[in-house]
Amino acid sequence: MEDTLTVIMKRRSIRKFTDQPVEKEKIIQLLEAAMAAPSAMNAQPWEFVVITEKSVMDKFRRALMFAKMNAPAAICVLGSSRMQKGKVGDKFWVQDCSAATQNILLAATALGLGSIWVGVHPVTIFSRQVSHILNLPKGVTPLNLIYIGYPAETKEPRTQYEEARVQWGPFPPAEKKHAKTFPQDQSILLDEQSNDHTDQ
Ligand SMILES: Cc1cc2nc3c(=O)[nH]c(=O)nc-3n(C[C@H](O)[C@H](O)[C@H](O)COP(=O)(O)O)c2cc1C
Repeated sequence: MEDTLTVIMKRRSIRKFTDQPVEKEKIIQLLEAAMAAPSAMNAQPWEFVVITEKSVMDKFRRALMFAKMNAPAAICVLGSSRMQKGKVGDKFWVQDCSAATQNILLAATALGLGSIWVGVHPVTIFSRQVSHILNLPKGVTPLNLIYIGYPAETKEPRTQYEEARVQWGPFPPAEKKHAKTFPQDQSILLDEQSNDHTDQ
């Protein structure tokens, strides 16, 4: 087994896959990695849908403009208000589910699988399409689809380290006036149908 830093650098978005199906045991290992992720207050506000049916994968490929890749399987990561433990972690479900997602990507790399993160939330139309295709019940919100399969392309391991993105210690006070923040309220992008995750 390769060491953790090697796996982190090796993980790349794979967009070409062989037809070889992914073994169920490996998918379970990916899900174990997902559910080992940290979450705020250990609320674990997640559920996962495993898709291996070609007919369903074809529906994703038809419906979602950035999800045309020929992967044989996918895991849909759901934010879940109905399964989360306690209510305090409600506001952090995107971070929590993203940590679970990254664990899946890294575990896939370690197992010799290729993977790609296909974003769904907070694009309302993608969220609606995935919810429709998977018949999602109330109380869950699809964060993404992770396409999984055996890779038919290779990519170089890499970091994207840039010294210019690193501030060692506090910024000098004079630079404060230039600071730009992300918009705090992106609620117009959020899925209206997405139930109890009222993180606006
Ligand atoms: C939130 C998120 C959404 C993404 N959505 C897509 C997508 O819909 N389709 C796609 O081909 N790649 C998608 N990607 C993959 C990025 O394009 C990719 O991570 C980035 O170009 C860096 O390349 P690397 O993953 O090989 O390091 C997504 C990545 C993230 C983190």
